[in-house]
Amino acid sequence: MDKEVFDDELRRKMHEDLIDTYDEELENEIDDYVRDFRFDGREMSEQERLDRRLYFQELVRLQRELIKLQDWVVDRGERIVVIFEGRDSAGKGGAIKRITQRLNPRVCRVAALPAPTEREQSQWYFQRYVAHLPAAGEIVLFDRSWYNRVGVERVMGFCTDAQYEEFFQSVPEFERMLVRSGIRLVKYWFSITDDEQHSRFMSRIHDPLKQWKLSPMDLESRRRWEDYTKAKETMFERTHIPEAPWWVVEGNNKKRARLNCIAHLLEQIPYKEVPRDEVELPERKRDDEYYREPI
Ligand code: ADP
Ligand code: AMP
Ligand code: MLT
Repeated sequence: MDKEVFDDELRRKMHEDLIDTYDEELENEIDDYVRDFRFDGREMSEQERLDRRLYFQELVRLQRELIKLQDWVVDRGERIVVIFEGRDSAGKGGAIKRITQRLNPRVCRVAALPAPTEREQSQWYFQRYVAHLPAAGEIVLFDRSWYNRVGVERVMGFCTDAQYEEFFQSVPEFERMLVRSGIRLVKYWFSITDDEQHSRFMSRIHDPLKQWKLSPMDLESRRRWEDYTKAKETMFERTHIPEAPWWVVEGNNKKRARLNCIAHLLEQIPYKEVPRDEVELPERKRDDEYYREPI
């Protein structure tokens, strides 16, 4: 369509629509924004404003690439699984949100499973996760995953030593099977320091918009920081396999972590831009007998 055919009214409405979209984007970032200046009572510096702008520019650039990836996945019938693991408040959820933000939820979806029910506990451990694996043309982001067994379940005592050991026997085989079946499997560990987790938990306690994120499990995980460290080290030693290696995302700087993670994910997959047909908006059909002016 030629630019000239837009009349002023249409141009104004399109502009309004665009601004509306970006307002929502800003809304999404507002909690970080507020945190940036609220506690020390000062406004952001020029440098901080610049960093913020660069962050948004880079985020949007990466999200455009994610759309190309999405088109390629659909076109080629690819299946992708991305696992997000890490301590509570490490930023998994925030990274996942930015990945899915502009994608089609039927192509890219999130699996964030709750604690297993009694029935699920009686099943093969991987069974409830298998149900969420992608079909052709789908990307599934696991917000926590089967690695719960050697993380939260190990540390909090929700599984037996035998189940824990059995997991390590099974998981490399399980993941190799997925990969051999054609699934692309990428595993991320979001890493944060003790101090950073402390301040994030504090901000959750004091922010009504964030309190829901703070579960009794999270509070206990604070107390058991050292146990989680050991659990994580054992997990890396025993599940870092050539077919499905672990990638560590430095999480202390949330924005950098999101950009790094998305950029890295895009590098793992040899997607190419799929040409799209040019879109022409068809004229709306008008049946005079039934036509009413809009009220
Ligand atoms: P979040 O993922 O929001 O931090 P929680 O902190 O409540 O949620 O729980 C952390 C993880 O521990 C979740 O993946 C949850 O499924 C798991 N979990 C919680 N309770 C149990 C349990 N009794 N047995 C096994 N896993 C559990
Ligand atoms: P993690 O989230 O376990 O990968 O830990 C990330 C950061 O926490 C790294 O910088 C570690 O060096 C640091 N770390 C790990 N264990 C401890 C600990 N017991 N006390 C203080 N810092 C730690
Ligand atoms: C995260 O930041 O890792 C997610 O918000 C998960 C959580 O609530 O800890």
